[in-house]
Amino acid sequence: MDFRGRVFLAPLTKGGNLPFRRLLLAHGCTVTMGEMAYAYQVVKRSKSELALLRKHPDETCFGAQIAASRAPDAIAAGLAAVERGALWVDLNCGCPIHDVVKRGMGATLLQRPTQLGKLVAEMVKGVPVPVSVKIRLGWTESEQNASEVSKAIEEAGAAALTVHGRTREQRYSRAADWDAIARIAAERSIPVIGNGDLLTWYETHERWRSSGVASVMIGRGALIKPWIFREITEQKAWEPDARERLAVYLDFARKLKEHFRDDEKGKERAMRFLPWHFEFFCRYRPLSAERFVASSREHPLMQTRFADDEQDLSVLEKVLRDHRSVVHQKLAELLWSAADLDAAVAGAEAIAIEFPAVAGEAGEMATAHG
Ligand SMILES: Cc1cc2nc3c(=O)[nH]c(=O)nc-3n(C[C@H](O)[C@H](O)[C@H](O)COP(=O)(O)O)c2cc1C
Repeated sequence: MDFRGRVFLAPLTKGGNLPFRRLLLAHGCTVTMGEMAYAYQVVKRSKSELALLRKHPDETCFGAQIAASRAPDAIAAGLAAVERGALWVDLNCGCPIHDVVKRGMGATLLQRPTQLGKLVAEMVKGVPVPVSVKIRLGWTESEQNASEVSKAIEEAGAAALTVHGRTREQRYSRAADWDAIARIAAERSIPVIGNGDLLTWYETHERWRSSGVASVMIGRGALIKPWIFREITEQKAWEPDARERLAVYLDFARKLKEHFRDDEKGKERAMRFLPWHFEFFCRYRPLSAERFVASSREHPLMQTRFADDEQDLSVLEKVLRDHRSVVHQKLAELLWSAADLDAAVAGAEAIAIEFPAVAGEAGEMATAHG
């Protein structure tokens, strides 16, 4: 596994489900990561947790992420991931949510660098593939200890380190601190993967080049624009119109169907995901380099709210930008049952009439997750 020169899909709980990863592969993603699995649940052979370690045969470069506080659990979960085809195992040290940190996992590990170093060293000894670690800058703004933590991780033998440029406390409230990411990349000799706020191909290349990181990682950008990986490779935007986007979402619905099966039970399971994905799909806006490159240098576009002030958006465009969950639910049900793209377009236009757009509301980019 070469951690340099790559564009990684970020581990995304719920969002990085297997059918969605297949969609990303179809749009140029080459390095995928699974959803975070709790090592202690893997040890208990929990079916739902083991399912998170599964990859699709088309995922030829797949890493599994685990959350752990104890080495025996981390090793057992790492081995289970390797048995299922993971090329590397990533340890989560960034998850901010209460249930995770209270069990000594996720971002809690940042507070104890020595203990973290021991855990990583045990994993490196016990797991037969490279071990990587994903961190945030620290617990709070005044406790930014990512330098010390990164040193401990490198000395413990980790093969790579991902830095999400925020603290645990910040969640998504601030722009990711790429200066801090650059400092850590300069201090370390293992590959550092930079992560935070990459939404366009030009921001990605700019951050990648100016920070000196070995690789970059994309989270919400992939949820909003599943085709972002191809844009980054080709260094040019694809600005699909509403019909073309609907075709992508329909393809995703079909992949969900293949995965969960085309029956009532399958639909019930798919509906835990498909409406949720529209919370991200609806944030898509064309952000051409010509118009936005200058402002993106001032402030990341991911963290910017865009009011829909264009006058003549089509009905279909409006409904795909709608951020109301009732509309997302309707669109998801439509895509599950639509026979083809024409039927999906007609159905989406009917939803637009049923739920007239609320004018002038800004798209909210930040989320409570991760
Ligand atoms: C829906 C969602 C789920 C996430 N789940 C995880 C996770 O399971 N493990 C993890 O390390 N980070 C998780 N994150 C954080 C992302 O991996 C990433 O570090 C963060 O979103 C910053 O990158 P971005 O600005 O490209 O989104 C999640 C983020 C989101 C939005």
